[in-house]
This record gives sequence, C-alpha cells and structure tokens, in this order.
Amino acid sequence: METAEIRRRFLNHFEREGHTVVPSASLVSPDPTLLFTVAGMVPFIPYLTGRETPPYKRAASVQKCVRTLDIDEVGKTTRHGTFFQMNGNFSFGDYFKEGAIAYAWDLITKPQSDGGYGFDPDKIWVTVYQQDDEAAALWNRVADIPYERIQRRGKKDNYWHTGQPGPGGPCSEIYVDRGPEYGRDGGPIVDEDRFLEIWNLVFMQEAVTEVKAKDDFRVVGDLPNKNIDTGMGLERVAFLLQGVENMYEIDQMMPVIERAAELSGKKYGRHAKGDPGYDDDVRMRVIADHVRSALMLIGDGVAPSNEARGYVVRRLLRRSVRAMRLLGVDEPVADVTLAQVL
Ligand code: SER
Repeated sequence: METAEIRRRFLNHFEREGHTVVPSASLVSPDPTLLFTVAGMVPFIPYLTGRETPPYKRAASVQKCVRTLDIDEVGKTTRHGTFFQMNGNFSFGDYFKEGAIAYAWDLITKPQSDGGYGFDPDKIWVTVYQQDDEAAALWNRVADIPYERIQRRGKKDNYWHTGQPGPGGPCSEIYVDRGPEYGRDGGPIVDEDRFLEIWNLVFMQEAVTEVKAKDDFRVVGDLPNKNIDTGMGLERVAFLLQGVENMYEIDQMMPVIERAAELSGKKYGRHAKGDPGYDDDVRMRVIADHVRSALMLIGDGVAPSNEARGYVVRRLLRRSVRAMRLLGVDEPVADVTLAQVL
C-alpha cells in the first residue's frame, strides 16, 4: 500500500469518527520552548494545557516532524529517521482511553478491502504504563488481546512528555511482530527490532515540570481535561505494509537511494552488517534521510547557518555531502544551487 494511501485511510477513518482534519503545521515549532515540531501534538499544546479553548473537541492530522536526537542511528537501524510523518488523533476533553484504544484497534485490524490496514490481530502486542491496570483491562476487553501480549513498562518507555515543561501522561504503545527471523521471542520488552512500534497512544492528563530526562521530571498536577494525543509512524507502517526491510526503502524514500546508487555507481544491496557493501548501504540510507529532512526544513524557511535551527540544516547537508564523498562522489551532483532553493 502506498504511503499516500496509508495517510488517506488514517484521515478518512478519523474524519468518519467526527474528527476535524487539521493540516500539518510548520517544522519550525509554533511552541517557543521547542526548536522543531517533534510530534503531532506540538501545534495543539495550548489546547492540551487548557490555555486556549479548542475550536473542536476531536482533531486528526498528519504532521511533519523532525527529531535529531538519534541522528547517529540513522541508516543503521530499520526505523530511525530525522524527518518523519506522524499520523495523530486528538481528543480535547472528549473521549479518553477506551475511545483511543477502540479507534486504533479498528483501523489497524480492519481488512484492507474495508478501508483498514489489515494487520493480523494475533501479531499485535501492546505495552502499558506500569500502574495502568485500566489500559491493560481495556486492551483485553475492547481488542481481545490476551494478557500475555500486554506488557508493562516504567516511565522511561511508557510516560510521554515533550522534554520541556508542559502536558504529559502515561502511554500505551502498539507493536507488530515481524516474525522470528527478525529477532528473539518475548515481545517488545525483549526485542524492539522484531517487535516494531507503530503507534503511541498518550493519555494526556498531567502537567509536568523540571524535566531532566524521559523518566526524570515532576508532575505538578492534573490538566483541566483528560485528553488523548496519539502518534502513528507513517513511514513505519509503510515499511511493514510495503514488505520492505526498513523505512528508507519505502516508496517515498527509495528513489533517493536509487539516485545515490546511480550517481556513485555503487549497488544498493541490503548487505548484512560486517559484509563488504554494508557501509555503502548505510551511507545511501543516510543520504535518503538527511536530504529529505534538509529539504523539508528549507521548505519551511530554515536557512543553513551556524546556530540553532540553521545549524541543524547545515549539519544534515554536511553529513549528506560526506556520505556522497565516501561513496566516491566528489563533484556537485545537483542541478540547483541552494541560492535557487532559498
Ligand atoms: N506525542 C506522542 C509521541 O510523539 C504521541 O503522539 O509519541
């Protein structure tokens, strides 16, 4: 299924359930405490904290996001991208845990012929926050997931906040088992390559401050409403539904890998780690990711520079150029100059 179709099905599903479809906001975060839009919820922070009254109780979006924390993992794992699109549904004081779980389950397991993604229900695992008996019971009752496939984790994995003072809450993550050829048995707590996280449902109900780490923060109190913030990784769902091996090989990114292969005369080959050719594969995946992120940032008005957002663009471009050089390409390869793009 094409990435564009996965996106369309997501928005149609939630629109049918009374959500207002909201266009993606800029990558330059509308929230002054964040450099970039790091999640689908960022444009909605004022509604989640209660600072502003939302014009709708339910919203859905496909938000472009940039996160550079894991930049060194890009190209080496199946799933780390500096740019990605997050499909999200949001409830501002309307439905809560049960609704979020039911809507998500319906979309991922509904047959493809019926507008869903058609994942095999027996291959779905979920995690819930350590003390969240309610979420565990709902997964069992609403989705009929046996308790053996409902795992519990602490704050580091199953509590979500932006990393800044603001809204937060326990979360529940949905994973797809890719099969024994991809790793060890035992669910996401054992192997996150075999069990790939596709969707995070956050039960946004608290205000947090003094955020020092994922699991080191202080809860100030309850938010005025119990809200829902979810984020589904569009590229991750695409790589599963397109039967490819990682997010860089999906329809929206593979053409860049193919062009890098063509320009360098190297063959992209899914070589295993340690094989000759593996490093070149990583370089082509890095290029596919970084070129996309840099272009999307430039499209949102960020120019390369020596500080803050501009420095991130510069770093992405430099890393792309370096990867091309390591592939043996020393000459400029684009027909346009940056000045023409800007
Ligand atoms: N905000 C949560 C996340 O980014 C869910 O959208 O994972």
